[in-house]
Amino acid sequence: MNKIMGHVFLSKLGKKRLRPGGVKATNWLKKQTNLNNKNILEVGCNKGTTSFELARKYNSIITAVDKDLFALEQAKNSKKNKYKNLTFSPGNAFKLEFSNETFDVIFNEAMLTMLNQNSKITALKEYNRVLKDNGVLLNHDICLLTNDIQLQKQIIKEMSETINTSVEPKTVDEWLFLLESNGFGQIKYTCGKMTLLTPRGLIKDEGIVNTFKIIRNAFKKENKVQFKTMRNVFKKYKKHLGFIAIASFKQKI
Ligand SMILES: C[S@@+](CC[C@H](N)C(=O)[O-])C[C@H]1O[C@@H](n2cnc3c(N)ncnc32)[C@H](O)[C@@H]1O
Repeated sequence: MNKIMGHVFLSKLGKKRLRPGGVKATNWLKKQTNLNNKNILEVGCNKGTTSFELARKYNSIITAVDKDLFALEQAKNSKKNKYKNLTFSPGNAFKLEFSNETFDVIFNEAMLTMLNQNSKITALKEYNRVLKDNGVLLNHDICLLTNDIQLQKQIIKEMSETINTSVEPKTVDEWLFLLESNGFGQIKYTCGKMTLLTPRGLIKDEGIVNTFKIIRNAFKKENKVQFKTMRNVFKKYKKHLGFIAIASFKQKI
């Protein structure tokens, strides 16, 4: 069985949106603030799917960073990389190469979930530092829909095993507390079922043609085991795993 991380695996199959609530959650985030004439940072942009949409739709300057150089190369070499207001560069959420108070908005989808508690806090402190006063953090993550601690532990264990990297999703209250304790407030959020690998979610996020391509790739001999294992874990815990999309504002500390 391949031992590559879940999002790298799904990207290899052809999936473009590697986030739990798909385009629905991303569109909700986009509606939470005015995105025109802004300086926007996307952290964890991967192949640039959200960055291209932002650059096309908004009259803003978009800077997109990821620590995965291979994904960034794919973004840079994409046919869609034609926008003068968009720049891709290597970057790590833990130490962003930008001055204090540079950005109005930060997009961060499906990344904080991948970090442990201390790393989440380090990233949030960096976001707080590079955001202007009253700047907005738009994040989208995996949400635990159960308060049963034993079940939470079991879900986290099985998810981490199946996607070959440790993940630490949180409950709604825990996500909100994390943000509030690290310099963010005036929070708005929405949550719902995780749609990453559901048939409806795939079609909505990727379109019919790309969904067929993804499924065809998923059932190739070399991919079948990992795909089925991932899908089975998400299916097994479908009542207990969801997405959360959160808009929060930098607070004066
Ligand atoms: C699950 S993928 C989500 C990609 C994209 N945001 C999306 O929603 O489709 C998480 C991305 O975050 C990136 N990432 C993880 N830790 C990071 C860090 N410390 N700094 C920058 N990028 C990071 C990964 O390389 C990966 O591209």
